[in-house]
Order: sequence, then C-alpha cells, then structure tokens
Amino acid sequence: MKRTPLIAGNWKMNTTVSEACSLARAILTGIESADGVEKVICPPFVSLAPLYEILAASPIKLAAQNMYFRPKGAFTGEVSASMIKPFCSYVILGHSERRQIFGESNEIINSKIIAAFEAGLKPILCLGESLEQRKAGKAVDTVTGQLLNCLVNVRQTSELVIAYEPVWAIGTGVNAAIEEVCQIMEALRAALAGMYGTGTGDEIRLLYGGSVTAENTASYLSQPVIDGALVGGASLDSNQFTTIIKLAAAVKNT
Ligand code: 13P
Repeated sequence: MKRTPLIAGNWKMNTTVSEACSLARAILTGIESADGVEKVICPPFVSLAPLYEILAASPIKLAAQNMYFRPKGAFTGEVSASMIKPFCSYVILGHSERRQIFGESNEIINSKIIAAFEAGLKPILCLGESLEQRKAGKAVDTVTGQLLNCLVNVRQTSELVIAYEPVWAIGTGVNAAIEEVCQIMEALRAALAGMYGTGTGDEIRLLYGGSVTAENTASYLSQPVIDGALVGGASLDSNQFTTIIKLAAAVKNT
C-alpha cells in the first residue's frame, strides 16, 4: 500500500501573528518543489485565518492544534470544529501536552475525533508512552490501549493520521531509537487492521514525533513503517523544516 508521506510542523504556543506570517512565508519560499510529500503547518489558533490567506494558493495545508468537541455554547476559551474548518484540513488531537497539562482523557479525545470527522476535518491523533511506562515494558500496551480507547465508535478512518510521540522524546533532544519506533508502528498497524480490516487499516498514515531534526529525519523516514513526521521545535526554523520536507521527498519517492 502506497501512502503519501506527511510532514507536519506543530508550532505549539509559539509565534505572534506577525511572526507566524513571516515563518510561513519563509517556509513557502524554501520548500521549492518537494512534490510527493503532504506538507502541513499547525500554528496557534489566532494565526489560522491570516496564514490561510498567505497559503491559499500553495501546497501547504493548515492544521489546528486542538479543538473542543461541542459545536458551540458556554465553553469559555474553547474553539469548535466549525470555527476552524474554514481554514484547516487537519486538527491535532490528544497531544501529550493536552493530556498531561490539561488533563485530557482518551474519552475526551474520542469525542473530539468524532466531532472532527463530522465537521470534515482530518484528525492527527497523538499517542505515546511515558518514560515510566517504557521502563516497565508497557510501551506497546500503553500506546495500543490509547489507540483503541480513542477510536471507540469511530467508523470513518481512512483520513485518520496517527502520530506516535513518546512523551520522553518530546522537546528533550532524546529521540527514540529506530527499532523502538518500528516496533510500536507495527503494533499500531496490526491493531488498526484488527479494528478496521487490513485494507482500511493500511491506508492510515503513521507519523513519528519526538525531537525530529534535519539530522535524524532520513533515518526515520527510510523505514517503510514510518509515513512521516510530526515536528515540534525544528518546525520553528524555516531552514530546518524545509530541509526535513525535502529529505522526506527524497527518501520516500526513490
Ligand atoms: P519536538 O519535535 O520539539 O520534540 O516536539 C514534538 C512534538 O510534540 C510535535 O507534536
């Protein structure tokens, strides 16, 4: 099964609107013709509308970093799927920072995935084990458990993207070993095949995230089980992010 590689840059809570516009323009200039790779940037909410204007005629798509599952109402500080849909193709859901800092459970993330699909958004579902869980030999069970619980009653799946981001590798410079990532990807692929059948399960792209840089991108993406990357810190540097995109194009399209 040929899956289109995907490189997404999660800017997290970085960039003012004017910084976001400058960064997006620099990335757009730098990517040249990295065909065959889907390119996504995930800025803060306030920059979605201005970046939509800048990127409208470009090959770069936008994702939100989060959303709430209710359609509207008295939920101060939250943003609904229909509010982001005019600007976004994707939405990151279940990032470990949402789980850890804001207490999001698999049940909440499950509701968000259902709401995102209903609104026509493609979820990028993040999964990952803590260092304690890995040390206890529970990495595979933790991540497949998150997958199953986040996808309860989710029937629409071919547009789903999954990002495996071990918590201990996020923002630490300690990126996961290739074998560790491949083991998790194979377990996720098997779990998806069990849930949705081999055909549909095979269409879902599996990304790696956690201290991805221009230096280590090629070694991850040369693995057939890794379909792309969710990049944090390195996506705030236009040179590094565009290098990662070009590397993905070179590695995956040869
Ligand atoms: P870093 O690439 O900064 O480790 O962040 C990864 C991440 O959390 C992307 O969502």
